[in-house]
Formats: sequence, C-alpha cells, structure tokens
Amino acid sequence: MRGHTFLAPSRLRATTASLIRSTSTTTFSKLPSFSVTLSNNKFTKPFTSNFYTTTSKMSSTQISANAVLDLIKQRRTYYPLSKDLGSLTTERINEIVKEALQHVPSSFNSQSNRVVVLFGAEHEKLWDITTETLKAIVPEDSWASTAGRMAMFKGAAGTILFFEDETVVKGMQEKFALYADRFPIWATQSDAMLQHTLWVALEAEGLGANLQHYNPLIDAKVAETWSVPESWKLNAQLVFGGKTGDAGEKAFDPVEAKFKTFGSA
Ligand SMILES: Cc1cc2nc3c(=O)[nH]c(=O)nc-3n(C[C@H](O)[C@H](O)[C@H](O)COP(=O)(O)O)c2cc1C
Repeated sequence: MRGHTFLAPSRLRATTASLIRSTSTTTFSKLPSFSVTLSNNKFTKPFTSNFYTTTSKMSSTQISANAVLDLIKQRRTYYPLSKDLGSLTTERINEIVKEALQHVPSSFNSQSNRVVVLFGAEHEKLWDITTETLKAIVPEDSWASTAGRMAMFKGAAGTILFFEDETVVKGMQEKFALYADRFPIWATQSDAMLQHTLWVALEAEGLGANLQHYNPLIDAKVAETWSVPESWKLNAQLVFGGKTGDAGEKAFDPVEAKFKTFGSA
C-alpha cells in the first residue's frame, strides 16, 4: 500500500458527496478536464448513484479526476465475503449493472458485452455447479483446499457473470474485414472495462468483490442452467458481498518503471 491513501467507504462517500455538493453550481475551469453530467438536485445517495445515472436531461458539472481515482484506488480484492448487502437491494445492484453495461465503451460501439447477475439461491447454484465440475478433475489430495475455496465463494451474496457475444464479434469481422483479427481482442477488452467499472461501483456502494475465472470449465452447465445463448462466451465471474475483513497487502512496482511521457502543453 506504499504511497496510497485508502479511504473507508463511508468516508469516501462523504468526501465525494461533499465534493459534488460544493461544485454543483460552479464550474471550475482550472480543474482537470474530466467532466460528467450529474443529477445535482439531491445528494442523499452516494456519488456513484449519480455517476451511473447520467442522462442528457441533467445539468452539467465538472468534478476533479481525484474523485474517480479515489474510487479506483479504493477497489480491492476481498475474500471471504458475506451475504450481507447492507441497505442495497437486488434492484439497485441490477440498476448499477445495467447502467454500466449501457455506458461502458466497445469497439465501433459494437456492444458485445453481456451479463447475468445471480443472487441468493441462484448464486449458490453457480458455486455448486463449479464445485461438482472441479470435483471430477481435481486430485483427491488437493481437493480440501479447492472445496474450501468453493464454500467461500458460495458464502458470498451474489455473482456477476461476464460474457461477450460471439455473434456480435463475428458480425463486426464480416463488416470490417480489415480489422477481423482485432475484434475478438477488442471485445475482451471492452468486457474487462465493464468488469472493472462494476468492481469499482460495488466498492463505492460499500460492498466487497473478487474476480474469478472458472470458464471454460463451467460454460456448458452455466448456459444450460440459465438459458444463456450459445453465442455468449463466458469471460469472468465477479463474486460480491459484504466485506468480512481488510484486503490483503498489495505491493506496487515503482510507477517510473511503468510510465513514460513526452512533450509539454
Ligand atoms: C484479469 C484479471 C484476472 C484475475 N483472475 C483472478 C482469479 O482468477 N482469481 C482470483 O482470486 N483473483 C483474480 N484476480 C485478482 C487479482 O489477483 C488482484 O486484482 C491483484 O492481485 C491485485 O489485487 P487487488 O485486486 O486487491 O488490487 C484477477 C485480476 C485480474 C485483473
């Protein structure tokens, strides 16, 4: 965690809400040029409630990129997770997922991302399916730790399944033959943007999450169980729920080794 400030979710929400309140009627031309449209008539909801409900009818306000970066820094991998969603309803979580699904970019606006959200017993069914699938292939002597991991995921509140629609990818390849080999990569990149957006959004709402990859082992059973179209290719599973502890330590390589810049304004 060197060099990073991690705000508790409640503090982060208070900070971002007060930031929005203080900028709701003023345009700060000297702030970095990150601009979003916000519903600024009521601030009883956390910042992300506004962030994910932008429409063209709302008035425009500039905020600092730091508000976004604080949320990005706050997101971590959490396990184990509980079934406690606090004051969040399944409707609210589905609303957040749908807003992100609509607004995360895709190459040529191809909109290849697909999502299935599982709560409660349906979420538990997913981890029963994964457990059965792994039981058939994991050696007996390492089964105990795998079984423990499965029980841990099952103990969470829900799972978001991320897919890319191969029909869309194929359509784009036919339409723009020049980029045919790029479209599968761009579809996966767009899906990754959606995964990150939702991971950050759930964090902003006070939940914890961890990202899993039991595809393609579970693909067929998932498709059969939730009537998922054959063309939807499973990419990832984001397990979410109440936090039961802190995130683990995280080391950072020096940013200088990862970053270059040239030129000046
Ligand atoms: C593309 C990608 C794949 C990942 N796959 C898994 C995974 O299969 N299982 C898991 O427990 N965590 C997985 N993670 C989580 C990473 O291990 C974690 O994000 C990383 O260690 C940094 O920790 P943080 O999330 O707390 O910042 C994945 C993360 C990314 C970005």
